[in-house]
Amino acid sequence: MSYLKNLNYLILGSSRIDEWHSYFTDFLSMEVHEQADGSLKVRMDEQAYRFIVKPSETEDIWAAGFQVANRAELRAFEQHLRSRGIECVHGTADEVAERQVEDMFWFQDPEGLRLEAVCNPLRLSEPPALPHIPGGFLTGSQGFGHIAITAEDLDACEAFYKDVLDFKVSDYIRQDIQGFPIRFTFFHINPRHHTLALAGVPALYRMHHLMVEVKDVDVVGRALERAKNMDIPIHMEMGRHPNDRMLSFYAKTPSDSNVEFGTGGLEINDESHWEVKTYDAISEWGHKL
Ligand SMILES: [Fe+2]
Repeated sequence: MSYLKNLNYLILGSSRIDEWHSYFTDFLSMEVHEQADGSLKVRMDEQAYRFIVKPSETEDIWAAGFQVANRAELRAFEQHLRSRGIECVHGTADEVAERQVEDMFWFQDPEGLRLEAVCNPLRLSEPPALPHIPGGFLTGSQGFGHIAITAEDLDACEAFYKDVLDFKVSDYIRQDIQGFPIRFTFFHINPRHHTLALAGVPALYRMHHLMVEVKDVDVVGRALERAKNMDIPIHMEMGRHPNDRMLSFYAKTPSDSNVEFGTGGLEINDESHWEVKTYDAISEWGHKL
């Protein structure tokens, strides 16, 4: 399996920090901590943070942080990447301190997304306040959730994640959307059905959505109600995906990306018996635009 064990955190760039503050606090019901440099650190579980929103002139994902088992594995992973001709850059002391990890380095995917490999992220003994998320989010060894990103050259990106990073293909979806055939590839690196989805479309933004998962359908319904009460645009109404069986809706973020808020995602616990399939639709029902 991959050196990368879970999608540990996301760093987002935005010029709309105040909107993100309210989005995380009032809609997602997470705990937001303002930092001295104007960025936000957001807690959703025992980890020190899962999201950082950095002040930026442009809106998009800034980096995705993946956890490696320990420092020795971090070094071995770096050697592996270098042997494949991938440039690796060690984190500065400031970056390591901001990430609250023991050590880190970063590299880029074929279309320039910054991927950070880290070990030993800080956990806090005090749980975060999640007033509307009884039971908490489904995180732990599965990381915070998943991301779906676009790829202009899907074949090149797919080969990178599969062959260089050793992500395992979960399944594929091929669907005509508004007359265009679009291919999606889903990858797992732990029991979560997918940690990364690639959509083979050129797009203004690299990140289409991030997904967070809760344990109870009522928590999803109440989140949809909160979004509507806050006049947050709903990108896709409630629906169910055929591959990961996730029941979810998608709410627009202040950065024009989306948050998928869902429950009931499938787990892949037995790699040897997992059958890779191709589906012909993104949704089994619902998810109306
Ligand atoms: Fe998703």
